[in-house]
Amino acid sequence: MRAIALPGFDSPPALLDLPVPQPAPGEVLVKVRASSVNGFDLAVLAGGMRDFMEHRFPVVLGKDFAGTVEATGEGAVRFAPGDEVFGVVMKPFVGDGAHGDYLSVGDGYGMAAVPEGLGLATAGALGLAGTTALDSLTAAKPEPGTFLLISGATGGVGAIAIQYAAAAGARVIATARPGEEADFVRGLGAEHVVDYSGDVTAQVRAIAPGGVPAVVHLAGDAAALTALLTEGGRIASTLGYALAPHPALVSVVADPQPDTLRRLAEDAAAGRIRVPISRSHPLEEAAQAIAGFAAGTLGKIGITY
Ligand SMILES: NC(=O)c1ccc[n+]([C@@H]2O[C@H](COP(=O)([O-])OP(=O)(O)OC[C@H]3O[C@@H](n4cnc5c(N)ncnc54)[C@H](OP(=O)(O)O)[C@@H]3O)[C@@H](O)[C@H]2O)c1
Repeated sequence: MRAIALPGFDSPPALLDLPVPQPAPGEVLVKVRASSVNGFDLAVLAGGMRDFMEHRFPVVLGKDFAGTVEATGEGAVRFAPGDEVFGVVMKPFVGDGAHGDYLSVGDGYGMAAVPEGLGLATAGALGLAGTTALDSLTAAKPEPGTFLLISGATGGVGAIAIQYAAAAGARVIATARPGEEADFVRGLGAEHVVDYSGDVTAQVRAIAPGGVPAVVHLAGDAAALTALLTEGGRIASTLGYALAPHPALVSVVADPQPDTLRRLAEDAAAGRIRVPISRSHPLEEAAQAIAGFAAGTLGKIGITY
């Protein structure tokens, strides 16, 4: 099968011809139809996961997947061949990624069925960003009618977080540069936009002079954002592992429980949330897709098969 993989540490990603994996007990073999790029791919490429997770080479990149069950391993009874599934690869090592024609993954944690009305391209961009958005909002606990500042609102996680927060009645202040980015976050439900290439603190103070009770931190200066919190406020950060502890800081690690994935899929299928995919690349161009993601993009970059 074709896969975008790293032959070893410090080697660039390449399109390799690898054997189709065999589903282990409890796993299903998925014929991957769509995936998408995430920050995790960049972290693996940069060697950032080297000290934290075992790497099994060749390391196939990719966390998000959507596709069709091709075969089931012993004891994997939740899905049958032909079922459409999506989710997030959550193995305790780096190597069995989604940017390949086939993927063998556990049929429980990190996987759910694709409901009718949800296209596989959308499902392939939903799992990690959607889960992280919901988990960040659970941690930040924005209240209806109060301000929520989302820093890094223009990415995949932020785009979904804006929509859920606005739908729950929070008054979203989103970071975005003027023009296309600002239009993008407003179109998703942001009430205010602050330009992160300028003085974010001054712009937020102009909107909320007393500060904000909740922040979702996906990018930017966490210390400056924390200083904007009102008494008892919370900052939920997906980058919390790299930050100094603070009483207001809640570190978010995405936890793609099947219930969370089902909720996301049903909301996307029903049109309650939009998964903004700015562009897609065929698998052969996954390395360019990853480079494009690193260079900056609005929403998600998809990979098609
Ligand atoms: N802990 C976890 O479990 C977990 C799970 C998922 C994601 N993450 C991390 O969470 C972050 C967000 O994920 P994502 O997939 O949404 O990433 P993303 O698509 O790269 O989104 C980040 C967005 O923030 C913008 N940005 C860059 N610098 C900024 C600044 N100083 N202030 C405000 N915005 C800024 C970026 O714009 P440009 O593209 O123009 O630079 C981009 O649109 C990433 O760092 C990712 O690695 C963690």
